[in-house]
Amino acid sequence: MPYKLLFVCLGNICRSPAAENIMNHLIVQANLSKQISCDSAGTAGYHIGNPPDERMTITAAAQLGIKLRGHARQFKKSDFETFDLILAMDAANYQDILALDPTGQYQNKVRLMCEFCANYSLKEVPDPYYGGPENFSLVIDLLLDACNGLLQHVSSKCAKGSIVKDKS
Ligand code: 4NP
Repeated sequence: MPYKLLFVCLGNICRSPAAENIMNHLIVQANLSKQISCDSAGTAGYHIGNPPDERMTITAAAQLGIKLRGHARQFKKSDFETFDLILAMDAANYQDILALDPTGQYQNKVRLMCEFCANYSLKEVPDPYYGGPENFSLVIDLLLDACNGLLQHVSSKCAKGSIVKDKS
């Protein structure tokens, strides 16, 4: 069973699909596709079924040469069980996720994406939806930094080809 990562933003059309696809790109490069898998979701349901936002797709292609795949879905309670680590893009996403876990039993599985940044000191991945090209560009740079840190974190859990999972 692979170690399962879930990236979560508000709409699941800008930040979290970019995070999912950048992480997949790094996982393939590191030859860890069998060990780590990725998905993404939004806390809101506004864009269910939609592909990633074209502005995000264009920026990811220009800066990293990758295509963004996927269709938006909404975060659901069963995701707490399905996934090993849930990465929230900003503090509002983090609170909205934890609001679905009133007893706090899955709290240790939920982290802020920027905790894994090495080069950026921003604490959140800013919502680019109402912004311009520079906002989308920052999202890609920030996510690449965080995904590299996250890959190190998850690979360090690899022991003799398998992954040691945290308790819920
Ligand atoms: P995301 O960006 O959370 O990074 O996918 C947004 C997408 C849609 C909206 C807001 C943010 N919206 O208000 O529809």
